[in-house]
Amino acid sequence: MADSLRFFLRFLHSPRAVGALFPSSAALARRMVEDVDFAPGRLLVEYGPGTGAFTAQIASRLVPGMHYLGIERDPEFTRLLRQRYPQLKFHCGSVEDLPKVLAEHGLPRPDHIISGIPFASIPTAVARRILENTRATLRPGGTFATFQYCHAYPLPNARALRQNMAELFGTRMHRSPCWRNIPPTFILRWNAP
Ligand SMILES: C[S@@+](CC[C@H](N)C(=O)[O-])C[C@H]1O[C@@H](n2cnc3c(N)ncnc32)[C@H](O)[C@@H]1O
Repeated sequence: MADSLRFFLRFLHSPRAVGALFPSSAALARRMVEDVDFAPGRLLVEYGPGTGAFTAQIASRLVPGMHYLGIERDPEFTRLLRQRYPQLKFHCGSVEDLPKVLAEHGLPRPDHIISGIPFASIPTAVARRILENTRATLRPGGTFATFQYCHAYPLPNARALRQNMAELFGTRMHRSPCWRNIPPTFILRWNAP
C-alpha cells in the first residue's frame, strides 16, 4: 500500500494523534536533518516517525557508531518502520515518557531531537509536558527541530508551542520556510541552553 494511502487511513482512525492528511515530502525531510551532526557517538531521537518520511533521510546518512531511536505511538506505523528499517531502533509508545524510554533502551541524553508530532492537535498540558521533558533530556547545545504548517502558524496552539519553547529554550529560534511540501511549512529550530 502506498504511504499516502496508509497515512490517510491512520488519520481517519486517529485524526488528532496523526495530525496530518499526508506524510511529509522528501524536500522537507532533507531540510529537517540538515543541522544534524551525523558522527559516531551522537544520538538522534525522532518523535513520531509515522511512515518514515524523515527516517528515510536519517537512515541514508547515519554513520557506524551513531545511535538513533524513533518513538512512535501508533502500533501499525511502528510495525511498518521496523520492517522497513531493521537496522534502526523503534519504541512503540509516547514521547511523553522520553526519560523512561531512553533509560529502558540504555541510551544517554540525545544530541538531536527531530519532531514530527502534531503539537497543534495535542492538548496544551500534554504538549507542555513533552517540551519540559525534551528540555530536561536534550544535551546542552543539542538541537530540537520541528515544523508548523504556514497556514496554521498564527493559530493559538502553534503560538503556544513557540511560547513554551521560548520559556524553556530561550528566544533564539531559527525559522525557515519549506515551500516544497503539502502544505508548505516553517521549519523551526532551537539549541538547548
Ligand atoms: C503528522 S505525523 C508525522 C509523521 C512523519 N514524521 C512525517 O512527517 O511524515 C505525526 C506522527 O506522530 C505520531 N505521534 C503523535 N503523538 C505522539 C506521541 N505522543 N508520541 C509518539 N508519537 C506520536 C503519530 O502517530 C504520527 O505518526
